[in-house]
Amino acid sequence: MKTAIIYATSHGTTEKVCKTIAAKIDQSDLIDLKKTGPIDLSSYGQAIIGGSIHAGRIQKRVQSFCQNNRDRMLQMRIGLFICAMNEAEFEKELNLAFPEWIRNHAISKKVTGGEFLFEKMNFIERFLIKKISGISQSVSNIDYSKIDELVAEMSQ
Ligand SMILES: Cc1cc2nc3c(=O)[nH]c(=O)nc-3n(C[C@H](O)[C@H](O)[C@H](O)COP(=O)(O)O)c2cc1C
Repeated sequence: MKTAIIYATSHGTTEKVCKTIAAKIDQSDLIDLKKTGPIDLSSYGQAIIGGSIHAGRIQKRVQSFCQNNRDRMLQMRIGLFICAMNEAEFEKELNLAFPEWIRNHAISKKVTGGEFLFEKMNFIERFLIKKISGISQSVSNIDYSKIDELVAEMSQ
């Protein structure tokens, strides 16, 4: 069964997570929503959809993709994940990121942690992150155990 790994990324962390997932799943294709037009899901048996949280929200591209492909996705095995850094909000952010119909249908839902990559942030982002989190240097908190759980659940 082929797997589509569909994602949006701002600074590359979600893409990094997707590449890690792809390396662990046979017959998977990586699809960056920023670089592609309409996606034909007919040749895929399952899809993993991921994005990252900025100011509490997932990318609009991910929201629109879910909305526009609802009927097909309800016929597929679905995995969902977000990259995020504010652990206290993880559950809330995951619930807000994906609509209820797809969360109820999904086989696997994970928060895979994230990264603050200061070298990729613009001035305002740098200022905000320093102010809100108190962090002023790049840090990687990717939770590889959550990636493994996602892969295991999608491979059952
Ligand atoms: C400007 C900015 C705002 C962010 N806001 C949130 C947030 O509200 N909640 C959260 O959990 N993480 C937040 N993060 C952390 C991102 O989710 C994290 O950096 C993630 O790894 C980004 O992935 P990407 O590079 O694929 O976009 C924020 C990061 C930035 C740079």
